[in-house]
Amino acid sequence: MYESFLERVLFSEEQLNERITQIAKQIESDYKGKKPLVVAILKGSVLFFSDLIRKINGDLEIDFMSISSYGSGSKSSGEVKMIKDLDKKIEGKDVIIVEDIIDSGYTMKYLKNLLQARNPSSIKICTLLDKPSRREADVTSDYVGFEVENEFVIGYGLDYDGLYRNLPFIGILKRSVYEK
Ligand code: IMP
Ligand code: MG
Repeated sequence: MYESFLERVLFSEEQLNERITQIAKQIESDYKGKKPLVVAILKGSVLFFSDLIRKINGDLEIDFMSISSYGSGSKSSGEVKMIKDLDKKIEGKDVIIVEDIIDSGYTMKYLKNLLQARNPSSIKICTLLDKPSRREADVTSDYVGFEVENEFVIGYGLDYDGLYRNLPFIGILKRSVYEK
């Protein structure tokens, strides 16, 4: 059933689980004695977010934000728009932004600037995937699950044209799907 769109599996459920456990333990020790506000960027980060926070042993709060980079397809246009803001103020809080992937970096740069202006006590970025070779905006992530090559990836929250978010693994999308 997968062969119509999947080139190959890049990170299996087991690999994701193992790496996410490591990141959770790192966050746990970095935020000892604090109550970080962990912010999921909808929709792509929801699977990563829910697996990550349940592995963090310690007090934390959660909130959600929805962002869209204009344009569908396999490239982001660099223009970013907020669809849903956080519910609560973040002044004085230790914020961790959880994202699915940093590609050009425009989305994360926009988000970080936006939240920084609200005077949190600190902001860190946690991304499951990073495509450093595609970076255009100047942004780096504090926690990175895996680096990926310049390929379009799907699954475990990541979509192509709204589909494939429910795959339990991360895979490479066949070029024939988006080059037609
Ligand atoms: P950026 O603003 O170019 O860094 O793009 C960030 C957003 O583009 C991510 O949050 C994803 O929604 C989307 N994106 C970038 N690369 C991929 C990919 O390989 N697969 C799925 N979505 C991607
Ligand atoms: Mg996204």
